[in-house]
Amino acid sequence: MDKKQNIQWFPGHMTKAKRRIQSGLKLIDVVVEIIDARIPVSSSNPELSELIGNKPKLVLLNKCDKANRKATQKWINYYSKLGVKALPVDCKSGIGLNKFVPAVRELLADKFDSQKAKGIKNPILRLMIVGIPNVGKSSFINRISKQSRAKVEDRPGVTRGNQWYTISNDLEMLDTPGVLWPKFDDEKVGLHLAFTGAVKDQVLDIELLAIDFLDAMIKNVTPEFLSRFKLNQADIEGVKPYELLELVGRKRGMLISGGEIDTERAANLIMDEYRAGKFGNITLELPEEE
Ligand code: G4P
Repeated sequence: MDKKQNIQWFPGHMTKAKRRIQSGLKLIDVVVEIIDARIPVSSSNPELSELIGNKPKLVLLNKCDKANRKATQKWINYYSKLGVKALPVDCKSGIGLNKFVPAVRELLADKFDSQKAKGIKNPILRLMIVGIPNVGKSSFINRISKQSRAKVEDRPGVTRGNQWYTISNDLEMLDTPGVLWPKFDDEKVGLHLAFTGAVKDQVLDIELLAIDFLDAMIKNVTPEFLSRFKLNQADIEGVKPYELLELVGRKRGMLISGGEIDTERAANLIMDEYRAGKFGNITLELPEEE
């Protein structure tokens, strides 16, 4: 798959993707949805829950190495309240993946038991990975799969053409992940996806992007951000994102004629420094506070 393509999802693509997932669903026992821990809302698919119906789901908050640790915990709690198990993982380094198989087994415990009750000695349950492009599906599959693929002819009831990776003695994974489309019609989602590199940089309204970023920053400021602009915690308390943008511009002497602050330049500076990792690990989307 081409990386960081600004993938155009036409209705035909969506129907095809949906069909692929639907046919995969018939073969599996659990869906593993991979989302980006920095943008859990923007990196999830609007129709997935409707698509999967009652099928059990496990969520992987991937790229947690780049997300704010406390925010990731908030998301785990959020999912937990919804009755969904979410695991923080880093599929690049493999951190957190040791919890994956135990979590799936726990989720499917009843299913294993009922298979055993039917006299199946060593039941094998199956899963499918789903997620939007660039969220880390291939990285996950490479990390988690034992090199061998199960042979199709060994598995009764398996549609020809489907290949399975062995994950453990009791779990197999469908080798082709379900590719989901993002909520691309939402401007904020588009910005966040571009922001984290899930889609190519589009023509972005940089000030809008920076204001959105600063909004997240105000809620969860990092020491790196404060020291970068010689700010104190008190400086940002109660401040509006646009005011913070102006403050950053002022601190860096970004003025235009008439003494006005060049907020566009400030916005560019903020986004460049964020992308260069100068502000530490940042999560852009938090669950709604109760
Ligand atoms: P996909 O199959 O869902 O399309 O995603 P893929 O695994 O190809 O991952 C997309 C990019 O995200 C890759 O970076 C990959 O290395 C990176 N990535 C995946 N999981 C993680 C993670 O947990 N943490 C971090 N930091 N990065 C992750 P790339 O730049 O396209 O490739 P590369 O330079 O890493 O080789």
